[in-house]
Amino acid sequence: MFSQPQCTAGSKNLHRSGTGTDRSHRRRKPMTHDTVIQGARVVTASGTSHCDIGIADGKIATLGTGLAGSEVIDAAGLIALPGGIDSHVHISQPSGPGIEMADDFASGTRSAACGGNTTVLPFCLPEEGQTLREAVTAYRAKAQGNCLTDVSFHLIVKETDPVTLGQDLPALIQAGYTSFKVFMTYEGLALSDRQILNVMAVAKEQNAMVMVHAENEDALEFLRDQAERAGEIGPYHHATTRPIPVEREATHRAISLAEIAGVPLTIVHVSNGEATEEIVRARQRGLTVFAETCPQYVTLTAKDLDRDGFDGAKYVCSPPPRTSDEWPKIWAGIEQGVFDLFSSDHCPFRFNDPAGKDAPGARKSFRNIPNGIPGVQTRLPILFSEGVVKKRISLERFAAITATNHARLYGLYPRKGAIMVGADADIALWDPGLTKPIRQVNLHHGSDYTPWEGFEVTGWPVRTILRGMTVMKDGNPVSKPPMGQFVERGAPDVLL
Ligand code: URP
Ligand code: ZN
Ligand code: ZN
Repeated sequence: MFSQPQCTAGSKNLHRSGTGTDRSHRRRKPMTHDTVIQGARVVTASGTSHCDIGIADGKIATLGTGLAGSEVIDAAGLIALPGGIDSHVHISQPSGPGIEMADDFASGTRSAACGGNTTVLPFCLPEEGQTLREAVTAYRAKAQGNCLTDVSFHLIVKETDPVTLGQDLPALIQAGYTSFKVFMTYEGLALSDRQILNVMAVAKEQNAMVMVHAENEDALEFLRDQAERAGEIGPYHHATTRPIPVEREATHRAISLAEIAGVPLTIVHVSNGEATEEIVRARQRGLTVFAETCPQYVTLTAKDLDRDGFDGAKYVCSPPPRTSDEWPKIWAGIEQGVFDLFSSDHCPFRFNDPAGKDAPGARKSFRNIPNGIPGVQTRLPILFSEGVVKKRISLERFAAITATNHARLYGLYPRKGAIMVGADADIALWDPGLTKPIRQVNLHHGSDYTPWEGFEVTGWPVRTILRGMTVMKDGNPVSKPPMGQFVERGAPDVLL
């Protein structure tokens, strides 16, 4: 959906800032930077070049050669990519009575930084009885002073009363919360078509981006009841009761509702070829539809939910992983530009925990297993290894779908999402030849497992730099007070 952004590091003319209007070459002093990254292959969504990156005051000040700096990072043999932006993560989100998410802002952003990310966008969901505005205030307080990456929030709209739609939502959009998610499934969250249209009307008026979780709740409830009556209660039946038509139909309906309301939309966590086809068809009709997919839909299958005993619960997420027949269809969408975003949908619960996957009633019916899997630290290495190293996608496309497009779609560009002069110095240095398996012991999230235990990966981020400060080195957080900030967002640049 996106066109290529302006050429940055790929340009022949390298750039610098901070030299003012002085045209006398004799009087111009070489700029000394706080930090210089030397010798990396610098990759952005629009091109690749070999140059130094000069950083001053947390911003990229110069792209050139022979740069001087107080700190010099030798990055020979490494690839410098825009710090990852994971625009779909769940952190400290209310999850029902007695259920607790495994990550708070400290552990969620620590894990994100260790996976090469510099910004994450979690969702602000009101607690029972809380207004959207109250929820935002409380959520910001939770983030304050605890983050290793920068953060900004999407909203979740679950109420459509006149105060929410007439006052709170417009005020919050104007205050920079320019994107929100609506659900077509989950008890307590699912909105009717009429409610979705009402929410979309606010998005249209206020220039905000609507994100949709597309699964048909009535169909799901019908299938869940049927399965339970037949005694099909194990984790695997989470997958069998959420078949592809449930997602395909809702994807088609969400697109139709957006067409009726006259708004662009983003379909999140697309899991299969048929839903992907709905998006392609909508674009062929001239509609503005953005799409996101996630690592689980190209690496996991429904069979993972059928593992021994209760182990399948580790893979319960919605939409569920499908069969491996769907993987090439999702890869084709990634390669061909159907998918603008590759996010984690990090939604971590502990496995051996009654406040997590082993919730009361979870072993009696799959419907009681908390939905979601951890993945904020493994998203980028999995895509690098399976996508770039296996030559399915270029490094430039990797930069686009892991950082640049997230920044553009959610109002962070050009401050975030690109290696260019004037942008925040948010950079991940990658060792493209480093091969090691994913292991829970090496992850920094709060969950007690990873769905990708033992998954072999080539290409790992070895250093994450947030606004010029190193926050991860060699896979571990650098111990410093948490430097992450809340980032104000503008309108999605596709709506400008
Ligand atoms: O299972 C999932 N994906 N849980 C997170 C909530 C959502 O729908 O994104
Ligand atoms: Zn969702
Ligand atoms: Zn999610």
